[in-house]
Amino acid sequence: MSTHLSWKAREATVGELAERAGVATSALRFYEREGLIHSRRTAGNQRRYSRDTLRRVAFIRASQRLGIPLAAIREVLALLPEGRTPTREDWARVSECWRSDLDARIRLLEQLRDNLTDCIGCGCLSIDRCALANPHDRLGDEGPGARRLSEPCPDPQPQD
Ligand code: FES
Repeated sequence: MSTHLSWKAREATVGELAERAGVATSALRFYEREGLIHSRRTAGNQRRYSRDTLRRVAFIRASQRLGIPLAAIREVLALLPEGRTPTREDWARVSECWRSDLDARIRLLEQLRDNLTDCIGCGCLSIDRCALANPHDRLGDEGPGARRLSEPCPDPQPQD
């Protein structure tokens, strides 16, 4: 049986959604169990997803790639309306939620890109510049972690 999702289809089976989204059906079932996506059941108890679920799945995958915890993803997806296709304005609300968090992540990535060959104040004292930038691990007195990298986000939660 083909799992290709026709462009005309308003709903998708789990196989069609998985194929078009590029994820395993088990991942879709997991997202559903976690309340990130929703389906209706047919008379034969089969899942049917509205087509806009593809956008939710793409959003979830992109967010996971950035290391955003599932709980945070669930929180912002809860801002989208149930029972109707989210509009651009709905998605704008979601993106506004994360603007400062994403800005902070971008700053951290830029710092990593630009400073990874320098001492980051992590206490390892393994780079030749540590002796100058963090003599005797003095930065360790300020607290734990890499003192010369900002840490804008909480640790990512373990994810399936
Ligand atoms: S890089 Fe770790 S203390 Fe300098």
